[in-house]
Amino acid sequence: MELIKSQRPQPTKDPRLWVITSGKGGVGKTFIASSLALTISKLGHSVVLVDLDLSGANVHTALGLEPSHLSIRNFYEGQKTLQEIVIPTPYPHLSYVQGFWDSWDSSSASADIVAKLLPELRHLKADFVLVDLGAGASESHLCLMDNADERFLVTTPEPTSIEKAYRFIEGLMCYKLKLDSQPDAYNSFIKKLREYRQKIVDRPFSIRKYIRESDGLRIDHFESLSTHPVRLIMNCSRSQTHADLGYSMRSVCNKYYDVSLDYLGAIEYDNAVWQSVRNMAPFLVSQPFTPLAGQFLGICKQLIDPEELRAVV
Ligand SMILES: Nc1ncnc2c1ncn2[C@@H]1O[C@H](COP(=O)(O)OP(=O)(O)O)[C@@H](O)[C@H]1O
Ligand SMILES: [Mg+2]
Repeated sequence: MELIKSQRPQPTKDPRLWVITSGKGGVGKTFIASSLALTISKLGHSVVLVDLDLSGANVHTALGLEPSHLSIRNFYEGQKTLQEIVIPTPYPHLSYVQGFWDSWDSSSASADIVAKLLPELRHLKADFVLVDLGAGASESHLCLMDNADERFLVTTPEPTSIEKAYRFIEGLMCYKLKLDSQPDAYNSFIKKLREYRQKIVDRPFSIRKYIRESDGLRIDHFESLSTHPVRLIMNCSRSQTHADLGYSMRSVCNKYYDVSLDYLGAIEYDNAVWQSVRNMAPFLVSQPFTPLAGQFLGICKQLIDPEELRAVV
């Protein structure tokens, strides 16, 4: 019997790489990453969701799936290519790569793994590759973010989360500077920054001013941050005031860091989210017609060309 072939054309170009991270853990990265992945796949694009939260892989839980014996460990140890450990899901056009079960040592989080992963992430057979990263501005996270087509920073309205989001942005800027600058100049800049931070601990300050005053530092990375902005999502919003915090963060970043932060909008808090995790049914699958689902669609529509949406739906 002849197999019925899918009507959908196979992707012909390299996938777009979207990376989702946060300053603080537990703010909803996995929920956001899996919901964005489901939304894009419902629009007809093929998506691979890669779990790179080395300290707590749980994409399979967010997708309501039993854990698989295949994981990124197989890739890391050279037994399989990344493409070979892509696992299908019951959701059309969506597959995933399961994260480490066994990242008890810090070597799993090294820059080596990122260097090994990046070319293979770029060649997965999909229209979109979404990466659910762990929290915090570690060098491997910053390197992946720097190489992504879109990078998302998730925060909640809690002050602890917002504070860590700012620290993350400062970390990203310093990482970019370090890549571009003379080591001596970079070290003396960091020393100056620390002295200043010790005096003023409670508010952001102009990093650009300090860069200007330091010889040997390149400042054109600011331009690259403007053309390649960090996309902010305010998760677990319970009011308009919460949602508006994203605009305030955007202004702070423009004013003090000179960094272009693009606020994509708020995702509401909804008790049904954790209930759906408990029931092993992704929220967007069990409740596809809620305001929350509309908020994810709104985010995707800001980033995907409408012509492309028409082409696949
Ligand atoms: N918008 C939301 N409304 C309600 N609960 C949420 C929302 N976003 C995330 N959660 C819940 O918060 C917890 C942490 O989310 P998770 O995505 O695992 O965070 P992270 O990946 O950043 O550690 C989970 O129990 C999740 O179901
Ligand atoms: Mg997570």
